[in-house]
Amino acid sequence: MTDSIAELGYIEVGVTSLDDWQQYADNVLGVSSEAHEGVLNLSYDRTIWRIQAKPTGEDDITCLGFRLTSEEALQSVCHRLSAQGINISDGSEEECAARQVEQLKICLDPDGLRVELYIGERLGTSAFKSPIGVGGFVTEGQGLGHVVLCASDLEAAKQFYLDGLGFLLSDHIVVGPPDQQLELTFLHCNPRHHTLALLPIPLPKRLNHIMLQVADMDDVGYGLDRAKTAGIKISSGLGKHPNDEMFSFYMATPSGFDIEYGWGGLEIDDSIWQPKTFNQTSIWGHQPESTT
Ligand SMILES: [Fe+2]
Repeated sequence: MTDSIAELGYIEVGVTSLDDWQQYADNVLGVSSEAHEGVLNLSYDRTIWRIQAKPTGEDDITCLGFRLTSEEALQSVCHRLSAQGINISDGSEEECAARQVEQLKICLDPDGLRVELYIGERLGTSAFKSPIGVGGFVTEGQGLGHVVLCASDLEAAKQFYLDGLGFLLSDHIVVGPPDQQLELTFLHCNPRHHTLALLPIPLPKRLNHIMLQVADMDDVGYGLDRAKTAGIKISSGLGKHPNDEMFSFYMATPSGFDIEYGWGGLEIDDSIWQPKTFNQTSIWGHQPESTT
């Protein structure tokens, strides 16, 4: 879609300990971290930063930043959101400068999560170089990865993200016994199979996990070794999802929510894509694992 978002360009997370996050970023994730004016910026491609950790203590996601490619697209999305009754404000000069964006609009999703819509490439001056030799992360044309959010009102969330922002349905996964079925909804805005997934569970925290996709399959294995060496909780061992075909494992962050560290995610061609419904979250693996 030309009048929808192009990518999830950045996210902010509120954390308890910036020091713990810096250690985790440098030694486990293998991304670059830079402490700057009281926040910690994580980068893993040419973009200035993709994840910003702030010491605000929620240990949850606090902002989604979506990039649009033109003023027309930004206006179109804002118009659709306004028609839904969503209040939209302009980002201040200071906010634009902090994110290094050209234009910024701010609103809240139906669960009160801050959503920022921006124009600007936010490119840094040098290529990414992992501090521990990770070969690179898949972000070109696909954004920072994906996030899985809990939605207390699934229909309201769908209206906001599909009808408002212009996400397209990728597919569903339905799990659980017949009388307690849980439908997971996967949404895309570019070739990445899903940039956003919605869990219809009103949990205390919005964020279930963030997915970072490495370019080399071996880097999933190296990442798992590093996590175990560092004593990080492996929430789900190696496995593969049926819908995005991601080969991955899940590990806890210092904030409790997970990071999925994956490789080989499916890319969608909208000219032929047909949403399906799956009945399992993994075709193999992704079992709980102990480090002891
Ligand atoms: Fe995921």
